[in-house]
Amino acid sequence: MRLVVIGFGVVGQSFAKLLISRSADLYRLYGVNPRIVACIDSCGYAVSATGLDLQRLLNAKKLSGTVGAYDKENRKFDPLRLIEKVDAEMLLELTPTNLDNGEPGISNIIAAMKSGKHVITVNKGPLALAFPSLLELANYNNIKLRFSGTVGGGTPILEFAKRCLKGDSIMSFQGILNGTTNYILSKMEEGLTFEDALNDAKYKGYAEAVPFLDVDGFDAAAKLVIMANWIMGMKVTIKDVNRRGISGVSLADVRRAHKRGNAIKLIATCDDKQLDVKPTELSNVDPICVNGTLNAVTFSSEQSGEHTIIGQGAGGIPTASAVLRDLIDIRNTIFEQRENL
Ligand code: HSE
Repeated sequence: MRLVVIGFGVVGQSFAKLLISRSADLYRLYGVNPRIVACIDSCGYAVSATGLDLQRLLNAKKLSGTVGAYDKENRKFDPLRLIEKVDAEMLLELTPTNLDNGEPGISNIIAAMKSGKHVITVNKGPLALAFPSLLELANYNNIKLRFSGTVGGGTPILEFAKRCLKGDSIMSFQGILNGTTNYILSKMEEGLTFEDALNDAKYKGYAEAVPFLDVDGFDAAAKLVIMANWIMGMKVTIKDVNRRGISGVSLADVRRAHKRGNAIKLIATCDDKQLDVKPTELSNVDPICVNGTLNAVTFSSEQSGEHTIIGQGAGGIPTASAVLRDLIDIRNTIFEQRENL
């Protein structure tokens, strides 16, 4: 399977490392042999029809800050043209989230779909702003669009709701959808200041490229929109979310809640078709009251009651594992369709 990767930050590099460490398993267990035939970042690109040498690609990025150094050539390039022209089956769209206009993610995804490439993205911008139209475009072009890593990092929150609760009806859900703010609030409970905790989250690669997206609740709101569209069949965008972030939460607030046996968490809720993100005081025994970068969501379903899923919500390797899951899923779906022809 030939892949074009656009965006080679924390998740892109983690994905390359996963491919290096897991390639034998991937072939043995799933019959897939993914090769990155083009890799593009904001300053350059590298291509190889037979597959890039991933360790060399990682070294080029580390030493020169761009994958363009892979070939020691500094060529001018047009990312959209590259996406269209490179001979590949799939685009991994891993550029940073932009919730103002979804770019460059939206254009990258459209260029891939129009040139017949399946798309995996971890970029929340395009889906938070244009979910219904991207899905429609994918169907129209007979393209698979997968986005597991947009919600829950490596935790299969979307798959859990969509596949494991098939046949049941989800009435509402609520949970922690942002790892960075959960990390900050957990560290504040341990006595760290807001700023120190945020710097720590940035250093560890949990935070968005522009961390106000985490702190002000935009990231959680974007994930809530993706879930509302995909799981609840709503047609909403980020403008439909009532949003408040955690910048107004003080150390004193956190300590007071702690004394009451509670904790303050940034909670996203979809209830009665209303979408909210806001700091909420929860009992420590509530199953979604988890710490660190964990995410947790409780789904309330009509037939089978409440289900909570918990897992790592941020970080390069967990999120890259969601990309790998999507890749295997697309490959299996294509094979099943071929067999049914
Ligand atoms: N910044 C995001 C978070 C990364 O902290 O949850 C995962 O989407």
